[in-house]
Formats: sequence, C-alpha cells, structure tokens
Amino acid sequence: MTDKKGQTAIAHTNIAFIKYWGKADPKLNLPTTSSLSLTLDEYYTKTRVEKATEDSLLINELPQDGKRVHQFLNILREEMGDFPPLRVISENRVPLSAGLASSASSFAALTAAVAKFNNWDLSLEELSRLARRGSGSATRSFFPGFAIWEKGTDDADSYAKEFKTPELPIALVVCKISGTVKKVSSSDGMRRAQTSPNYAAWVDESAQQLAEMKKALFSSDLERVGQLAEANALAMHDLNLTATDRRFTYFNQDTMKVLEQVKALRKEGYLAYATMDAGPNVKIITNQEQAPKIKAYLAERFRKIQFDIATPGPGISYE
Ligand code: DP6
Repeated sequence: MTDKKGQTAIAHTNIAFIKYWGKADPKLNLPTTSSLSLTLDEYYTKTRVEKATEDSLLINELPQDGKRVHQFLNILREEMGDFPPLRVISENRVPLSAGLASSASSFAALTAAVAKFNNWDLSLEELSRLARRGSGSATRSFFPGFAIWEKGTDDADSYAKEFKTPELPIALVVCKISGTVKKVSSSDGMRRAQTSPNYAAWVDESAQQLAEMKKALFSSDLERVGQLAEANALAMHDLNLTATDRRFTYFNQDTMKVLEQVKALRKEGYLAYATMDAGPNVKIITNQEQAPKIKAYLAERFRKIQFDIATPGPGISYE
C-alpha cells in the first residue's frame, strides 16, 4: 500500500551459485570475491516503513530486537542525510527451514522502502551499494534472474548488477532438512573460514569459476553451471572444515545423505548438482522438466524432509 505516511517494497531472496564467503573489510562489508546468484520467485520479503517515534522492527507480526536494523538505518542516515525514526513492518515469506538467506531479501526490501519513503532518486545499483552495509547477499536481491556482485575496491564500487542471460529453464529442488536456527552466523563463519590455509587458493579459484560460470550461462549449458556451482559450494564448506580458528561445519547427517543421492541421481542420468549455504540444507540445481521427478525421487527416500521447487524470480517492486 502506498500512501503519504509509509512505503512498501518487495524483494525476493537469491541463491548464490558462486558464493560470497569472506570479507575484505568487515565494517564496509566489502567481500574478498565477486559472487553470482539467481533470484528466486517463491521466496520474498515485503517490508513497509512508517514514520514513528523510534526505530522498531516487526517480522510476521512479532516484535523483534531490531538492533541490526537500527544500526543499518543509522548507516543510511549517515550516508544519505537524516530521516525520522521508522517502524519497520516485514512480512517474511522465506521459510527459515528452506535454508535460504532471509537477510538478502530483508535488507534489499528495507533499503528500497526507506529510499522510496525519503524520495531518494537512486538506481538499482545505488540501492544495491547501500544494502551491502546491511547484509552482503542483499546486494543481489534487487535484480531479476541472475546478478553479479562485483567485489570492487572500496565503498563506492562494490555493488551488484543484473547479469542478463538467454532464457534458461533452470529450477532448484530445495531440500528443507532442518528448521533450527543456524549455530554459526554467516559473519562469524566467514571470519573463521578466512583462517583456513586454503583460503587464498579458494579466492583465486572462485574468480576462475565465476569467469567460467558466465560463459556457461551465456551458452545455456546447465550441466556446466551445476558443476561449477557445486564445486564452488563444496570448496566453500571445505574452508569451514579446515579453519584454524575453531573449525566447524554446517552439514549434518542428512546433508551428507542427500549429497550422496545427488550423485546417485547423476549416475541415473539426471541433471542434478548441489549447493549449500550457512546451514544444513541442500539446494539441487536442475531444469524445470526434471525438478518434479527429482523431488519425487527424494521424497520417497527421505520421508522426514520436505521439498520445494524454486524458479527464477523478479527484481525489486513496490506497492
Ligand atoms: C553462504 O549475506 O548473510 O549465503 O554480509 O555478514 O550479512 P553478511 O552475510 P550474508 O552471507 C551469505 C553467505 C552465503 C553465500 C552467498 O549468499 O553468497
């Protein structure tokens, strides 16, 4: 609803095929690598901001400790000039159990709603740059389909852009393995991963994988897209296991079992590659024709796991 007192923006979440997993500058949230993602249709955050007497946050009708949001609003005030305290009312349609970063859609929607509220005339890239200070993955949630967050060199040039590809029949099978809140936050996980002796090699490899991923997307080679995404994700998780500062893993036994089945699916001729983020859930990259078959195959083997199918989604919008 748009009226004089408030503004509403909708941002869809995104899943990284080439991951952001490390900060070159934690304060400015500059990443060590560029990353590439697909925005998803099925999961989104709708956020309304209204003038209030102090900053506050409500998610799905429940009051939250809005510290992170308040800090982010203060960064926006420093960057763009002062604005009144805001009540932030969010409807989050990113099920926690899907293991998708709700911070991506949340901070993208919040940035867009605040910009609209203040009548800031900003491009999507400028919004992306601002959203970066709230959460890195949010940079990529302004764009439809694929987006690349170019790591840049400083605050001014680190933001995402749309990456236009030929129309691809891509789909993800989202395996909702665990609904528990993640035990190691992304920021803490990254900090620890960066102490791995393999970290510098991962940064180099990631740049090569991104270059190859762009080619694979341009040539609509989904098999290659999947291979690259899986290799990049597994290498990211290897950094967690080899961190010298309190090594850890997000995987649990079901993660390992699903990963085995992804291999089995490939042996049977399916297009199926896995990617995982800061949690135990597995997202399987496939095409739209095979997604329901893969879902049925896995549902038969994992009675307790729920499966969703996700497809490419739109960029930011306003109500
Ligand atoms: C594994 O964007 O949640 O999902 O910038 O600290 O808020 P902060 O991190 P966040 O990290 C997402 C990490 C990831 C990979 C990715 O989305 O690129």
